[in-house]
Amino acid sequence: MSVLTVEGLTVDYVSGERPVRACDDVTFELRQGEILGVAGESGSGKSTLITALTRLQRPPAVTTAGRIEFRGTDLVSLNADELRKLRWTSLAIVLQSAMDALNPVMRVGAQFVDVLRSHDKTLGNKDAWAKAADLLGMVGISADRVRSYPHELSGGMRQRASIALALACGPELVVMDEPTTAVDVVMQRQILAQVLRLRRELGFAVVFVTHDLSLLLELADRIAIMYGGRIVEIGTAESLYTKPRHPYTRGLRDSFPPLRSPLRKLTGIPGSPPDLRNPPPGCPFHPRCADRFDGCDEQRPELLTIEDHADHTVACRLYPSGDDQL
Ligand SMILES: Nc1ncnc2c1ncn2[C@@H]1O[C@H](COP(=O)(O)OP(=O)(O)O)[C@@H](O)[C@H]1O
Ligand SMILES: [Mg+2]
Repeated sequence: MSVLTVEGLTVDYVSGERPVRACDDVTFELRQGEILGVAGESGSGKSTLITALTRLQRPPAVTTAGRIEFRGTDLVSLNADELRKLRWTSLAIVLQSAMDALNPVMRVGAQFVDVLRSHDKTLGNKDAWAKAADLLGMVGISADRVRSYPHELSGGMRQRASIALALACGPELVVMDEPTTAVDVVMQRQILAQVLRLRRELGFAVVFVTHDLSLLLELADRIAIMYGGRIVEIGTAESLYTKPRHPYTRGLRDSFPPLRSPLRKLTGIPGSPPDLRNPPPGCPFHPRCADRFDGCDEQRPELLTIEDHADHTVACRLYPSGDDQL
């Protein structure tokens, strides 16, 4: 069963002379309890997608087209009140900096108590504090920390606390935007392991955004690759990492050291992402693509399913419908 269906989602920033399309016709589905990873370089539109998805976007961002169906409800048509009811209880968000989620002048536990009691009016103060300690315990933070202020915790602890806070009201979907980018590698591994364990125990679905594709291999069930505001490839983590089809996906994979498997030669991708104020014609990746051929600068490839891989689609003219060259 699908928790989230996104169809043709298009977001423009409408501040300058002409609109900047940072999210262009994005379509994907998220199944119950599934972890979808979204990877792409900085500026590819990941955060734009996340804020549009969660309806947290602010002007000048405008959703100009598309549908976001969450458990049968179209989020685009909900008003602020209806959205507020969904937040925390059904749909929760974890951002890159825990400081965005935690109030620096409030004890950590008190913030949990606020969230818990505002969504469950029958919950007493004492029970709420006990639940706060349980939630912190769930991410490996000892109960006595409920009385700490955010600055008294390490960066990694704060980030784990913000994940626990997102989970406080038992959401079905948790959206995470670069939640491990500000912490060291050891803490990053711990956080990923905890997200996996909690997903197993609690059964929520996750959209996990990162610029580091190698990290998603351990975490995600499926991975979507964004480039220039578009999804250019989407498939199971296994299929996409071991057999990436899009030249950009291959480049991105070879730009980061793998967390577990033997070290590959890291190559990086020459050139830089497109300026979305003035995007290239045809395939957005063609100016940087070593495999481009006649017409890549004119025709914009659509996402097509790869033959015999129902769960793997790619937008690249190397793979015309049904043809798997690699
Ligand atoms: N406030 C803004 N005003 C105008 N354009 C913006 C704004 N924020 C982002 N953009 C445009 O959207 C693109 C994607 O940004 P973003 O979604 O933050 O990417 P990512 O999260 O992948 O780094 C940027 O490259 C920029 O062109
Ligand atoms: Mg971002």
